[in-house]
Amino acid sequence: MLIEKFMTRYLRYQNRNYLTFNEVAPKEMPRGHEDREYLLYVHIPFCEELCPYCSFNRYKFQENRAARYFKALRREIELYGERGFKCTGVYVGGGTPTVMPDELAATLNLIRDTFPVREISVETNPNHLTDAIVGTLLEAGVNRLSVGVQSFDDELLKAMERYHKYGSGAAIEASLKRYTGQFDTLNVDMIFNFPLQSLASLQRDLEIIKAIPADQVTFYPLMVSTATEKIISKTLGKVDYTREKLYYQEIFSRLKSDYRPGSAWCFSRQAAMIDEYIVDYDEYLGVGSGSFSYLGGRIMANTFAVEEYCAKLEADRSAIAFSKDFSMLEQMRYDFMIKLFGTSIDMAAIRRRYGQLFTEALWKELLLFKGLKALEMDGDRLRLTEKGYYYWVIMMREFFIGVNNFRDICRSQVKNQPDGE
Ligand SMILES: C[S@@+](CC[C@H](N)C(=O)[O-])C[C@H]1O[C@@H](n2cnc3c(N)ncnc32)[C@H](O)[C@@H]1O
Ligand code: SF4
Repeated sequence: MLIEKFMTRYLRYQNRNYLTFNEVAPKEMPRGHEDREYLLYVHIPFCEELCPYCSFNRYKFQENRAARYFKALRREIELYGERGFKCTGVYVGGGTPTVMPDELAATLNLIRDTFPVREISVETNPNHLTDAIVGTLLEAGVNRLSVGVQSFDDELLKAMERYHKYGSGAAIEASLKRYTGQFDTLNVDMIFNFPLQSLASLQRDLEIIKAIPADQVTFYPLMVSTATEKIISKTLGKVDYTREKLYYQEIFSRLKSDYRPGSAWCFSRQAAMIDEYIVDYDEYLGVGSGSFSYLGGRIMANTFAVEEYCAKLEADRSAIAFSKDFSMLEQMRYDFMIKLFGTSIDMAAIRRRYGQLFTEALWKELLLFKGLKALEMDGDRLRLTEKGYYYWVIMMREFFIGVNNFRDICRSQVKNQPDGE
């Protein structure tokens, strides 16, 4: 437990500098390299209900505002198409991307006309699992649908303020059974270590997942920004990281027989299933308000203000508002964290990219995790061991808490947002 506590403290401290962005004056939009493939991340920041634990860029859904937003989004996609990007993977996240299914379909059609797309993944909520919406998504070429469930426990769903809008655990389970098999992958998003969640409740959730059976399940540890942690501790209870390991071990051991991990927290029934895009692509291009891009060692974020975002694109201008150049050491650390989160690093690919610098610069990390028996060599691949998986849950949890803190700062600066939080 001591190592886990130390890792949490150290990473929280380290991420304070790692994730400090500079505000940038609007610059020219980046250009793509002819010989590279990119992931396109598309952000839809609207939800019918706002969950108290969530720090993503999201606002209460309003039809007129969202319709204007989708139009601006399509303009941004066209502008990047003209700038030579070759996006082969598409991930549409939110918010709730399916709040306006026809607008989403028009956007996906434009994306497929603009880029040589191989795979499209879309996030949704359980109340959008209807024949009409599923039909629209399939027709628009969606291969992977990711449904946010969080838990099948009605008491937890009520505490998360999702029950009244997204339905009871039993109703969600029935919908998932009905639509499993219609997409290449139907993923179920769950959260563990929620303050009111007992081990017995988590065990029931795991049995339901296996009984559906879900193609794929992503079990996120609860990751709340510092500000959100304070808010939810007053209403839902204190976040207790000391039981996180036990809960994770329960998930890992119960899923082990039927599922294989594609990342430290995403488990698939079959090896070929699409899971964590961020792991498969070295670079990604973000479009939409509050989206992130990682291109050529530079991390950038679009403005979090929907009005400002729309106005920028309506004038054919870049919506990038923040950026940070990673040093070579930061790029290597980022690769080390992300690739191992995807369970292994191809050391030959790393040598092609960084030469010997990678092992020379990261010798302390390599020594530490090998010493902890978290990593092992398997031919030319450096792999997580079973023990290593939980260390990477901590690593990514702290990374995303850092990202959530940054989002909170950006969102608190958003002014004049009708219905904005
Ligand atoms: C950002 S949501 C977008 C899709 C959809 N609106 C939903 O609620 O599922 C995607 C997933 O992120 C996860 N998530 C959101 N807030 C989280 C938090 N504070 N900690 C861990 N996971 C979280 C949830 O599992 C959620 O399903
Ligand atoms: S968890 Fe999903 S539905 Fe809830 S506020 Fe966040 S993005 Fe919206």
